[in-house]
Parts: sequence; C-alpha cells; structure tokens
Amino acid sequence: MPQPALSRLIAIIEEIAQGNYSDDIMALTGPEQPEEIRAIAEAMGLMMVKVEAREFSLENLAAELRAANADLKQRALATVEAMAAALGARDAYTQGHGQRVGRLAAALARRVGLEPQEVEEVRVAGILHDIGKIGFSDQVFANEDTVPSPELLREIRTHPQLGAEIVESLDFLGPVREFVLCHHERPDGQGYPQGLGGEDIPLGARLISVADVYDALTTDRPYQEGRSRAEALEVLQGLAGGGLDPELVRAFPQCLAGLPAAGG
Ligand SMILES: [Fe+2]
Repeated sequence: MPQPALSRLIAIIEEIAQGNYSDDIMALTGPEQPEEIRAIAEAMGLMMVKVEAREFSLENLAAELRAANADLKQRALATVEAMAAALGARDAYTQGHGQRVGRLAAALARRVGLEPQEVEEVRVAGILHDIGKIGFSDQVFANEDTVPSPELLREIRTHPQLGAEIVESLDFLGPVREFVLCHHERPDGQGYPQGLGGEDIPLGARLISVADVYDALTTDRPYQEGRSRAEALEVLQGLAGGGLDPELVRAFPQCLAGLPAAGG
C-alpha cells in the first residue's frame, strides 16, 4: 500500500472526525488507488452522505418545531390579550388601561436597563395586570365611583390572585405570573395580597405599579378629570418609598418624553 495515499486517507478521516466535511475523500475512490484505500474511501463517502442527509432533515425538523412553537405562543398570547381587551368592554374605565400600562412599564423597564426579553415580559404583564377583574361581579363595576364596602373591597382585592391563576397555565410567560400577582404590593409592606416589602416585590411588579398609578391619575373619570402630567408626577413623588419604588419614581419622568400627553 503506497504510503502517501494512506497518509492522505488518515488526514481526511481526521478532518471528517472534526466535523469538517469536504469532497476530498472522493479523490481516493478512483481506479488508480489501491483497492483497500478505495474501499475505505467509498464507505466513508457513503457514510458522509447519509450523515449529512440526516443532519439536514434534523435541522429542518428543528426549524419547523421552532416556528410552530413561536406561532403557538403568539396565538396563546393573543387569546389572553383579547381577554384583557374584553375586560375593557365590561368596564369602561379600564378601556385601554392595560395597553397603556404595558407601554409605560416597558418604557420604564428599558430606562432602568432591563434586557429586551425582560422588557417584553414587563410589557405583557402590564397589559394583563388587571385580567383578574374579569371574574368580578357587576356590582364592583357599577360602584366604582363610590367608596367600596368592606365586602366589595375584599372582592376587589382578589384580582391579583385571580389574574395570576389565569396566566399560570401559560408557562411560557415565565415571570409574568409573579408580576400580575404582585402589582398591588407596596414597598412599605402595606399592599396586597402578600404584604411583601421593598425589594421582595419583583422588579417587574414594581415597574407596573408606577405605570398603573400614573395611568389611573391621568385618565378621565366621570367624577374626576384626568390630571395633567405635572400634577400626576407630583402625586407619584409623594408616593415614593411608601406606595411606590422611589428609584423607579425618580426614573419615570424621562420615560414620558415622546409619549402622548397625559389625559389622552
Ligand atoms: Fe390592579
């Protein structure tokens, strides 16, 4: 067996073992090659073709799965967003509130340096934060302008937990469930449902709280005209440290640049 052909064959096989496929092996399948070299080279060439075909079909399969998965997530999310929009149909005051809170909370999340994936989770949780109100009795919506009775207050306070249960089944939403559950917690521990304090409240929930309060203040209600941007920011300042995260309140005004004016 001539040495150069064998050395060449070994070198090519070593390359293949490294995952570097090429047609070099075919040069050793010609009739001028010794029989043993030719037989090994042909078997190797055939094996490469089969491995490449299998890799190709696996890659295609993985791409199809990724696309189907993304599509499924999109549809599930669209369904929950439609439910959030349906809430607006039950309660005129919350019309558009979820979308605005999602947009504001995401802007604040970007402002404080969260990664794009985290910003997206905050945006989705902002849209869905009050989804638990969908199970409220008509009484709650009918009496929104008056001070709620203790009984109604108890019902109102169930909405973060109900909302968390609704989004729980969508496990791809990740921390969105926690953000929905904790959006009425307060840094001073006086919030609900768990009475968490300070940084025990997930950051996403603290971001949503700031956006939620701001949007509630600047939205027109039958009994009260929405406040101006400056007035609302003043109220937020007053809540810093008690009801709202002080650092987020400080960062919030810069997020408003470029957004439609308050009250709209
Ligand atoms: Fe809420």
